[in-house]
Amino acid sequence: MNTRNPLLIANWKMQLTVQQTVQLITELRREVRHYRGPVQLVACPSFTSLPEAHRRLVGSKIRLGAQDVFWDDRGPYTGAISPLMLRELGVEYVIVGHSERRHHLGETDDMVARKMVSALAHGLQPILCVGESTAERSQGVRETVVRRQLTEAFRSLPPPSQGRRIAVVYEPIWAIGTGMPADPDQATEMRNIIHQTLIDLYAPTLVDRQFLILYGGSVDPQNICDYIRGERFDGALVGTASLNAQTFVTMLKEVSDCLS
Ligand code: PGA
Repeated sequence: MNTRNPLLIANWKMQLTVQQTVQLITELRREVRHYRGPVQLVACPSFTSLPEAHRRLVGSKIRLGAQDVFWDDRGPYTGAISPLMLRELGVEYVIVGHSERRHHLGETDDMVARKMVSALAHGLQPILCVGESTAERSQGVRETVVRRQLTEAFRSLPPPSQGRRIAVVYEPIWAIGTGMPADPDQATEMRNIIHQTLIDLYAPTLVDRQFLILYGGSVDPQNICDYIRGERFDGALVGTASLNAQTFVTMLKEVSDCLS
């Protein structure tokens, strides 16, 4: 764990209506109003909830993120949402290359690479997800897979300019939504491989200054500190356990405690 402000990101996926999103944000705001610690909170609702979420988060400690972005600014792309549209709604962060999009929607490394360029060009902070499947894990190729995903994602990306931060999340696919989180030591090995791959691509000082490496996959209040403490991850991307305000705030407290 480095000294930079850790990120705790809620990925609400396609789980909540606008009304339910508003309710969860209201509860979260109430719970975190006295929080003064170093952790940066980010909430990523569905596209349809973004305008209302933005209104409800103004003046709070929670930043707004989106779950995806298209690579072009505008054009004949039915159903797509451009970075300009996200910026217009006050979005600051965007998840790119989540395995659910790679798997269900056929998102390729090439699409991910284009989304990374587009997000950064528009001042959105990307949250890039990488991770191996169950089959890739049992074939013993998880390092190769994650290295390829990273190298491809950053292929066309110039070194991010000062002040621009990029989060990379190690999310082994078999750990997502299964209640079977990765062993913290094994996840840390992958964290180190991600760190080394980034150093192979960019200068070490730049990597240490501008990249955060997070863990995601069945994170909950009981296990979050196993990933954060010591020389481990710079935060977490949380799905299921972020859908309950109390649980999410308990994780925030856990992280703050294990950092102090
Ligand atoms: P999970 O999801 O916490 O439910 O495993 C994590 C994610 O997919 O971002």
